[in-house]
Amino acid sequence: MQGIFENYDVSQNLDFECFDINSWTSFFYEKANRYEIFDSTLNSLNFKTKESASIIGNKWLHFSNLMPKVLCLLASKVESNQARMRILQIAWEELGEGKAKQIHAEIFKSCITMADVNFNDKSSNANRQLEKYAEGNFRSTSEIFGLGLGLEIIAVQNIETLFNGLAYDPILASNLKETEFFQIHFQNEEGHIRHCIESFMKYCPEKINKIDFIIGFEKGLEFWKLFWDEVANELRSQHQQSFAWAN
Ligand SMILES: [Fe+2]
Repeated sequence: MQGIFENYDVSQNLDFECFDINSWTSFFYEKANRYEIFDSTLNSLNFKTKESASIIGNKWLHFSNLMPKVLCLLASKVESNQARMRILQIAWEELGEGKAKQIHAEIFKSCITMADVNFNDKSSNANRQLEKYAEGNFRSTSEIFGLGLGLEIIAVQNIETLFNGLAYDPILASNLKETEFFQIHFQNEEGHIRHCIESFMKYCPEKINKIDFIIGFEKGLEFWKLFWDEVANELRSQHQQSFAWAN
């Protein structure tokens, strides 16, 4: 089977000399929307049930545990300390800024417990592919920055879908909203995205840099497509099983 991170059409016209930050922001959002990443999960019949809380919660926990490692791998491969600092800044935030109890994967565990579902260590193909990609070779620092934006650009929908997938009743919803994890993650995602687009404009002046950046960006989106499709498939098979038991 061909890897999800191969085969990119780089023959697009990228002569966007007169684009400002707002035009680039729309350009990247428009590309991200084309992937329709959340459709199959949101249309699942058992979304917002205890089943979705278990499937989505555990898969997110796995991702959240992996993310600092991915960021450190990426940071080790960029060409300057300035670029490294920008990536490690995000890793540092994910790692609780020096406080072990504040590591994001750790604070997320209390959300899963609140939803009254068990932890499992079921591995995820999407997460494995992301790790493999981060361990591999990159064309350039631009590709790595592009991956950063691809992973970040749907952050708001990611957090909303994660929240709705977990919050299967109104009391749980209001308790989850107060957790440190959701308090942190409902804020400032747009600021992070703008920061990534500023990096693109600053560090990718030439057409070749822009192409590399967009390759990385699309790989980030491919990861999310795989991640949420995997969720939708598990929801479907869980639903079919419960339906079979009930009949
Ligand atoms: Fe986080």
